[in-house]
Amino acid sequence: MEMIRFENVYKEYAHNITGLADVSLVINKGGFAFLCGPSGAGKTTIMRLVFSAEKPTSGRIFISEEEITDISLRQVPYLRRHIGMVFQDFRLLTDRTIFDNLNLILLVLGIPSAERKRRCLSVLSQVGLAHRRNAYPLQLSGGEQQRIAIARAIIADPLILLADEPTGNLDPDTSWDILQTLRQINARGTTVVVATHNYGLVRRLHAKLFYLRKGRLLPKEEYPQILYHEGETMEEEVVLPTLESTPPEKSILAKDSVPKAINYQGGFEPPPPPPDAR
Ligand SMILES: Nc1ncnc2c1ncn2[C@@H]1O[C@H](COP(=O)(O)OP(=O)(O)OP(=O)(O)O)[C@@H](O)[C@H]1O
Ligand SMILES: [Mg+2]
Repeated sequence: MEMIRFENVYKEYAHNITGLADVSLVINKGGFAFLCGPSGAGKTTIMRLVFSAEKPTSGRIFISEEEITDISLRQVPYLRRHIGMVFQDFRLLTDRTIFDNLNLILLVLGIPSAERKRRCLSVLSQVGLAHRRNAYPLQLSGGEQQRIAIARAIIADPLILLADEPTGNLDPDTSWDILQTLRQINARGTTVVVATHNYGLVRRLHAKLFYLRKGRLLPKEEYPQILYHEGETMEEEVVLPTLESTPPEKSILAKDSVPKAINYQGGFEPPPPPPDAR
């Protein structure tokens, strides 16, 4: 099953700036894909289009085999329920603890207290930071904050996890640990897309690879050799083993719950908690 499909997608910004030009790609359900390419190549633009933070200038975009190209602003939060995003600059709320950063997401989703606690502790242990749950974001190292940003992106159990440069400014060991964490999340069935300049990591984890330059996807033959081990070429994607997870039974845009938390995941201001929540 396809999770992300771009068909001839163009994104043009004002003043003729090309974000993407004629990008077609498919990432399968349960897949793990890297987006690579120099600064300004269009990696973040792809993520913003998946997240529907932007609309393409032309072309079509499908998520979980449903077209999202022209969804309305009111549908966007429903889409984002299914997509976790990890921003390079973390965007954690510095005035509350790690636990409360995570708890807030579930609070606005209307999840009961005991279940919130269970899920917060569960994602915190997935990223190895349960013991720091009462710390504030600025008391954590960059790598630890990165892990919390990942925990927050997966706490609502998304179909897709987008991680934009998740190892920027981290040392090689920490970067590898973060990648392993993303890989474990992928092994539980979440489709993971990672934008990165860290070609050392790309070489170590054989996953689907897309290389962009100036908004265009290069053909495989033109991928830089730096992405491979010496003498090696990558003809075929290596399929990593993934647990089967159940596909959504209804439309990913179905309006069945309060999706406001997803605005928050998207980096906007969190909405106020419901009046009965405190
Ligand atoms: N909101 C915007 N307005 C105008 N131009 C934009 C906007 N967002 C991106 N661009 C342009 O689109 C192109 C692609 O940008 P994008 O952020 O996708 O690159 P990137 O591959 O993520 O780069 P980096 O590795 O530096 O993060 C760049 O030329 C950029 O200047
Ligand atoms: Mg970027």
